[in-house]
Amino acid sequence: MSTLDIPELALVALVGVSGSGKSTFAHRHFAPSQVLSSDTFRAMVADDENDQSASADAFDALHHVAATRLRRGRLTVVDATNLQPHARAALVRVAREHDVLPVAVVLDVPEALAWERTEGRADRTFGRQVLARMQRDLRRSYGQLAREGFRKVHVLRGVEEIDAAEIRYEKLF
Ligand code: GTP
Ligand code: MG
Repeated sequence: MSTLDIPELALVALVGVSGSGKSTFAHRHFAPSQVLSSDTFRAMVADDENDQSASADAFDALHHVAATRLRRGRLTVVDATNLQPHARAALVRVAREHDVLPVAVVLDVPEALAWERTEGRADRTFGRQVLARMQRDLRRSYGQLAREGFRKVHVLRGVEEIDAAEIRYEKLF
């Protein structure tokens, strides 16, 4: 079993390609109110969770809610791919502004499995090349997360490790 130590007040960034199981993981381990999902925020601002033209507005709103929650001392999980340095930098910034520790949880599954899962979903329409690019971004992310300011970087490799993961909350004081 992998035990993920997470401060009881943290900003948790899930990191993984589409189909890696981020939303499933978030649902399993956190209360719905703790999870801010980019899909949900796209739907909130544009009535369509796949409308990529709404991404900038969706993330503005997501960051605003994350900031509000952290100010109120609430653990917050960001369910988005978080594969791009600029996306993660925004989260680290929000966490730092509120003296909260940013934590990354990386879900790394074989690309073929992620594709198999994604291909079967009516609400995911991008091609194989897009997933391959995400996978490259993920590889690149490994060396960067700690340097970017994530205080803990938990990496779950493969379905079994992801399934077996348990979260243990660390008391802050
Ligand atoms: P995006 O939102 O596209 O970035 O994907 P995601 O990383 O949130 O993946 P999601 O949790 O939606 O999982 C994708 C598909 O894989 C879903 O249909 C899930 O039911 C399935 N899935 C996710 N995790 C598991 C798992 O641990 N076991 C099995 N059997 N299926 C899983
Ligand atoms: Mg998802």
